[in-house]
Amino acid sequence: MSKDVVVLVGSLRSASYSRRLAHALIDLAQPALNAAIVEIGELPFYNQDLETDAPPAAWTAFRERIRAAQAVLFVTPEYNRSVSAVLKNAVDVGSRPVGKSVWAGKPAAVVSSSTGAIGGFGANHHLRQSLASLSVPVMPMEAYLGGIDKLFESDQSLLPKTQEFATKIMQAFARWIDRNAA
Ligand code: FNR
Repeated sequence: MSKDVVVLVGSLRSASYSRRLAHALIDLAQPALNAAIVEIGELPFYNQDLETDAPPAAWTAFRERIRAAQAVLFVTPEYNRSVSAVLKNAVDVGSRPVGKSVWAGKPAAVVSSSTGAIGGFGANHHLRQSLASLSVPVMPMEAYLGGIDKLFESDQSLLPKTQEFATKIMQAFARWIDRNAA
């Protein structure tokens, strides 16, 4: 049966390469994975003062969506050798309140990209560090896409070589989800 996968994209700009990449990964993963982007741009910044009996509705909806999903795919750009604030905020929102984290045990994969040569390596590993602290089983397969601005065809699909690599990532992710199913 198709697996329900949430995709989190760490860029808000409309022409984002990360978002384009996420869409390509979603398409390539079908039908094994039923993956879809969950928007994180409207999540209020994490503030423990708001963690009351009635936290922000956007936090609650996000937490429920992640809890219901079988797995999470993180597609991250690199901002100053780390993840963007919007993506870190989503991780933080999902991690609280203490004892009610939505992340623990949720199979995940990290795909990073950048217009530079090292493909968001720094962001990828900063994110892995946060996810390790949250007991997220992250697929070990490495996926860094450098020169991302040059990896798309004019119709927004990935170039054949990149498509081949992206397909391997998503096939490995499907197997990883099976192996780490809650
Ligand atoms: C960047 N960029 C970048 N690239 C990189 O390889 N290493 C880095 O540390 C950074 N740092 C960085 C900081 C900030 C604030 C911005 C806006 C950009 C460039 C980045 O890879 C490029 O802008 C990507 O296109 C951003 O991803 P999206 O928005 O296309 O998904």
